[in-house]
Amino acid sequence: MTARKIDGKAFAAKVRAQVATEVSQLKAAHGITPGLAVVLVGEDPASEVYVRNKGKQTIECGMASFEHKLAADTSESALLDLISNLNNDPQVHGILVQLPLPGHLNEDLVINAIAPEKDVDGFHISNVGLLATGQKAMVPCTPLGCLMMLREEHGSLSGMNAVVVGRSNIVGKPMAQLLLRDSCTVTIAHSRTRDIEALCRTADILVAAVGRPQMVTGDWVKPGATVIDVGINRIEKEGGGTRLVGDVDFDSAAEVAGAITPVPGGVGPMTIACLLANTLTACCRANG
Ligand code: GUN
Repeated sequence: MTARKIDGKAFAAKVRAQVATEVSQLKAAHGITPGLAVVLVGEDPASEVYVRNKGKQTIECGMASFEHKLAADTSESALLDLISNLNNDPQVHGILVQLPLPGHLNEDLVINAIAPEKDVDGFHISNVGLLATGQKAMVPCTPLGCLMMLREEHGSLSGMNAVVVGRSNIVGKPMAQLLLRDSCTVTIAHSRTRDIEALCRTADILVAAVGRPQMVTGDWVKPGATVIDVGINRIEKEGGGTRLVGDVDFDSAAEVAGAITPVPGGVGPMTIACLLANTLTACCRANG
């Protein structure tokens, strides 16, 4: 391996420590405790793990955590009533509805019912528009975590060629907006992109967010490029059991890249750290 491994776990611990310091200052100076409400509908095991981790880390940072676990057959109107209550609750500064929602619930409708200033995921149409037009937005946590690692690695990103593989609303599109805001030349690649390997080889910054295990191999990577792997996929191990891998084939990519995030221990921990930072930001904005 020639690439430097970017330690997202250590970076996330630094971000959380900074958030914890600011939370304790806010409490001491103004008697305010930032609060994050997380809503989980149904019993998806992966979502339950995420929600548990979010709650634990929220409390460790000194913030209040409000968990709302609803049955899988919860009606849309009951969910909208809960969101309305959370919108009006002064102890709640951030609201996160865990996705995906069960099929009978309209995700767009539910997300857009969250008050934009409490939308710590940055998924509300107002925040999407504010980000796209360069205004003060709540920025989605996973792309924000990726951007922080890239800035730490490079300082300025100005003029760099960035290719984002994946066009989801949660990662691909906001990632492209953030890289554009930092003056990268940005291309979004996806399943219909022609000669995707050659396109990726032009990238100084390559972000993989497609949800396909180990799709990006070393021959897709420009020598010296920085590779950010957003994927978290569970695959069968030879000889039994399972293991987590990203959307990048780490071993072959690390032979070519200049720097690369591992899975686990790269982007994942940064996502929750950015959620906590967004909750603190929402609290500070709510209290002037
Ligand atoms: N499901 C997978 N990632 C996310 C995320 O960042 N936010 C929410 N709300 N749900 C998710």
